[in-house]
Amino acid sequence: MNSFLEVAVETAREAGAILRAEFDRPKKISYKGEVDIVTESDRRSEAAIVARLRSHFPQHAIVAEEGSGGAAAGAKYCWHVDPLDGTTNFAHGYPCFAVSIGLVEDGEPLVGVVYNPISDELFTAARGEGAYLGQKRIHVSPIEKLSTSLVATGFPTHLRNHSVNIQYYWEFTLRSHGVRRDGSAALDLCSVASGRFEGFWEFGLHSWDTAAGILMVREAGGTVTDLDGLPYRPGDKSVLASNGRVHEEMRKVAADIMERAAAASK
Ligand code: IPD
Ligand code: CA
Ligand code: CA
Repeated sequence: MNSFLEVAVETAREAGAILRAEFDRPKKISYKGEVDIVTESDRRSEAAIVARLRSHFPQHAIVAEEGSGGAAAGAKYCWHVDPLDGTTNFAHGYPCFAVSIGLVEDGEPLVGVVYNPISDELFTAARGEGAYLGQKRIHVSPIEKLSTSLVATGFPTHLRNHSVNIQYYWEFTLRSHGVRRDGSAALDLCSVASGRFEGFWEFGLHSWDTAAGILMVREAGGTVTDLDGLPYRPGDKSVLASNGRVHEEMRKVAADIMERAAAASK
């Protein structure tokens, strides 16, 4: 295992142990926005991650969701950290959340780890070295058509009244086996990588949500672009990840919805 990945794995496991222990205790919740929740556990997990990454890589930049990272000017390497992806699930006792840690080199993901401490599923990927669930190499699903696909999406907690995604949810529901909304974008991407979902799309995700997961999808043989089909980089406005086989079909459905929305607003 390469040394960046090794540190990312031990860091994700340490943070996951914090979340696992705190999952069974009463949660201290506060609000960052109308329904944008943050808990003490988000902050504790982040503090552990940032401390460990800093001790190993003092020259690297860290972008962490709760703001405790720090940019090292001109850094070639930047860690994108979501200390608890799926906070709403965590706060409600719904066991679907993860620690997501991605290392980006000059804008392109190099290493990714997503750890679900409840199921103890550890997803790892390194550029050019494949994607793994535990010790087992994973691959995207062989399904060829959207009509026989299970897909997933998520909805922003921020500015939710302005989200166009309900339209997409509706259309994809009618054209597939169904749309799941599990509440953790990092795990959604890992589900595409491991063949559980054929596709996933979402608007307005941040680099810490996707940096690790998109590498997982690519290394498992899948495709990641934005919803226009253009190359995706962590933090871009929209993301479309798939097994590759249903990518063009999903992109076309998205293009049709956008076209109709534009026509209706004239
Ligand atoms: C959220 C989750 C969710 C997605 C939201 C994200 P958080 O992250 O990934 O699935 O739909 O857009 O903000 O806030 O739980 O870290
Ligand atoms: Ca997140
Ligand atoms: Ca989070």
